[in-house]
Amino acid sequence: MLNALRKAGIVIAIVAMPAIAAQAADMSKPVAARKAVMKVNGFYMGQLGGMAKGKMAYDAKVAQGAANGLLALAKLDTSKMWLKDSGNDKLGTKTRAKPEIWSTYPDVANKAKALETALESLVKVAGTGLEGLKGGIGAVGKACGGCHKPFRAKKK
Ligand code: HEC
Repeated sequence: MLNALRKAGIVIAIVAMPAIAAQAADMSKPVAARKAVMKVNGFYMGQLGGMAKGKMAYDAKVAQGAANGLLALAKLDTSKMWLKDSGNDKLGTKTRAKPEIWSTYPDVANKAKALETALESLVKVAGTGLEGLKGGIGAVGKACGGCHKPFRAKKK
């Protein structure tokens, strides 16, 4: 009996191993893709923030392009980049995504929707002048932070 159990245990371990390896490999691409989307978010926000803070000359075309870009990103279907079990509880330092993204769903989707709403406003004003940009960017920054605070782990 004990021997049979031991044998069964070994068989399970052998069968389970490749499955675990395959799962870890599967997550790397979606995780890289979602980070890439966030990086582009950061690039556009850097331009808009730079102009709003006077660190960069205001340029209507650049401001409009960045706002349009952010809205386009917000409308992407990224659902397959945010697969369940791809949080930092499972993947460790490979991601800063907290497991609460999935355990408190749809909170995160509401945060994403809030960003899209703020961006709908920003695209209407970003190209109209520096004052317009300043008026619209605050809500966007808040929406980014409003999701990062509960759902993104601090840098290690
Ligand atoms: C709905 C939630 C949500 C919203 C809204 C959001 N983010 Fe993120 N962001 C995340 C999460 C979660 C991560 C961590 C992703 C990971 O490590 O897998 C992240 C990561 C990042 C990163 C780091 C990317 C990297 O290279 O690891 C940047 C930069 C970033 N976000 C910028 C932004 C900006 C700018 C906005 C607003 C325009 C924004 N994010 C809006 C959830 C969000």
